[in-house]
Amino acid sequence: MKILVTGGAGFIGSAVVRHIIENTTDSVVNVDCLTYAGNLESLISVEASDRYAFEQVNICDRAALDRVFTQHQPDAVMHLAAESHVDRSITGPAAFIETNIVGTYTLLEATRDYWNQLADTEKQAFRFHHISTDEVYGDLPHPDEVESGTEPSENEKLPMFLETTSYEPSSPYSASKASSDHLVRAWLRTYGLPTMVTNCSNNYGPYHFPEKLIPLVILNALEGKALPIYGKGDQIRDWLFVEDHARALYKVVTEGKVGETYNIGGHNEKQNLEVVQTICSILDTLVPKETGYAQQVTYVQDRPGHDRRYAIDSSKMQRELDWTPVETFETGLKKTVQWYLENSEWCKHVQDGSYQRERLGVESAETKGSK
Ligand SMILES: NC(=O)c1ccc[n+]([C@@H]2O[C@H](COP(=O)([O-])OP(=O)(O)OC[C@H]3O[C@@H](n4cnc5c(N)ncnc54)[C@H](O)[C@@H]3O)[C@@H](O)[C@H]2O)c1
Repeated sequence: MKILVTGGAGFIGSAVVRHIIENTTDSVVNVDCLTYAGNLESLISVEASDRYAFEQVNICDRAALDRVFTQHQPDAVMHLAAESHVDRSITGPAAFIETNIVGTYTLLEATRDYWNQLADTEKQAFRFHHISTDEVYGDLPHPDEVESGTEPSENEKLPMFLETTSYEPSSPYSASKASSDHLVRAWLRTYGLPTMVTNCSNNYGPYHFPEKLIPLVILNALEGKALPIYGKGDQIRDWLFVEDHARALYKVVTEGKVGETYNIGGHNEKQNLEVVQTICSILDTLVPKETGYAQQVTYVQDRPGHDRRYAIDSSKMQRELDWTPVETFETGLKKTVQWYLENSEWCKHVQDGSYQRERLGVESAETKGSK
């Protein structure tokens, strides 16, 4: 099978591409325009494979997408390309509307035209897998809001997001992802395009751009900088190791049912402050210093509209596709910290853009803009 992966130079996309090339016999066409978040250096281990091809293309560029479909003739699309950082969506929502909504629409239309001219058997076997987030569901009751002192009954236990939970996005990021989810489902209902959607909780692991909580805290801690915590740090996220997510996504595109939604999560509900403290104690063991890393924790003003709790019920993935995460939060976090300690060059290059500039001989649009 040949899979067109959008956003394959990003954090999760690159894990998906590495998973497919290293563990299956399938081929990948990676379609990525290389924003600040896309890094070809994350794909060094697979780029020499004759089952891997890279196309530097923006998903909003219809003509370029048509050329890619005609040239590569994929059997499936895994759509991960997106603007993905909530803080950036608050200060500059336009790029989120453009890529996440208009880009998804443009990709759906290019896919539909390509799919329409396939022979019947290929048409039936074709899949469009849209990768989305649990943030589309809004937030859940926090343990603070539940009366303390009494053991909750089965009915009163804190709820989790199900595939049937209604959408209530809070940020420009989650609203733009919610819009794209609706477009994808409409393209199945209206045009018959064989789509499926997955909604996943927070990912962490190697090759994560150091603006997100976990890599930011690891690098700031090592550089002796402040470890910023929004508000009281009591926001709860459900953490999933990125390689477990990549395995789940491959299961969905190859074994999932058309029209279905699958929630993917790690059953690792942690408060942000606890995540930061755990990273500090791993660093205290691996790179000890006189004063513990936790001393660098600094509380900053909370983000507007900050969701308080996310938690995913991923029992459908387990029941129907026999998927469960391999890593616990403890083993995954230790691997992640170790990876950042061993890959300081990657961190330096993604921050200054130097590898990509040298590699492509040109500057990506975002690196140029940020100078
Ligand atoms: N990171 C998480 O915790 C998480 C959790 C659940 C779902 N998701 C979803 O998974 C997907 C991937 O997330 P990620 O964390 O890997 O994101 P990321 O920001 O690390 O990577 C996004 C990739 O998309 C590319 N891209 C952006 N705009 C593009 C455009 N217009 N055309 C072509 N390529 C473009 C970027 O260059 C980059 O390589 C996103 O759709 C995100 O909403 C992420």
